[in-house]
Amino acid sequence: MAAESANKTLIVYETKMGVTEESAKKIADVLRSKYQLEVDLVDLKEQNAQNLAQYRNVIVGGGVRGGRVYSRAKKFLENDLSGKNIAFFVSSSWAGTPDEGSYKSARTRFVENTLAKHPKLNVVGSEAFGGRIKILGKLMLDNTDLVKVEAWAEEIGKKFTQ
Ligand SMILES: Cc1cc2nc3c(=O)[nH]c(=O)nc-3n(C[C@H](O)[C@H](O)[C@H](O)COP(=O)(O)O)c2cc1C
Repeated sequence: MAAESANKTLIVYETKMGVTEESAKKIADVLRSKYQLEVDLVDLKEQNAQNLAQYRNVIVGGGVRGGRVYSRAKKFLENDLSGKNIAFFVSSSWAGTPDEGSYKSARTRFVENTLAKHPKLNVVGSEAFGGRIKILGKLMLDNTDLVKVEAWAEEIGKKFTQ
């Protein structure tokens, strides 16, 4: 098994509407281009990440439906991630509404409550971004914000390379 490398970063995500994947790709772009990190992107629906021992940095992202963070993303946090830098994000329509109260409650419910189940993780950053809803191909709502995702990725990149 490959030894851990400070440069190696894993981004795992679970998406149904595509937004978490778009964010994961944006974060990967920033970490590669601005911080020269070596990033592997894994869609948890296609495969489970392997050889976790090689990664120093791990980012987990998941969407939210019916008041719950997608289960594969939550389950991934049960892996042995001790000693690694961890970042976590969700995509949630409630988090993307301009109403600060809605953002805060989404953040508490989907980000903080999820991470509270894993108190030993070394979490260096977490965030709740907006989402998108399409029904039968028709766009019903889109409060995604890739500029916010990019800014967050820069903060995370700094923490990973400190
Ligand atoms: C059936 C359904 C239920 C949803 N339930 C919630 C919810 O409870 N809270 C929320 O903030 N967003 C909810 N959303 C919006 C999703 O968070 C949004 O679609 C987001 O983009 C999902 O991430 P994904 O695109 O990576 O799948 C729901 C969307 C759908 C289609």
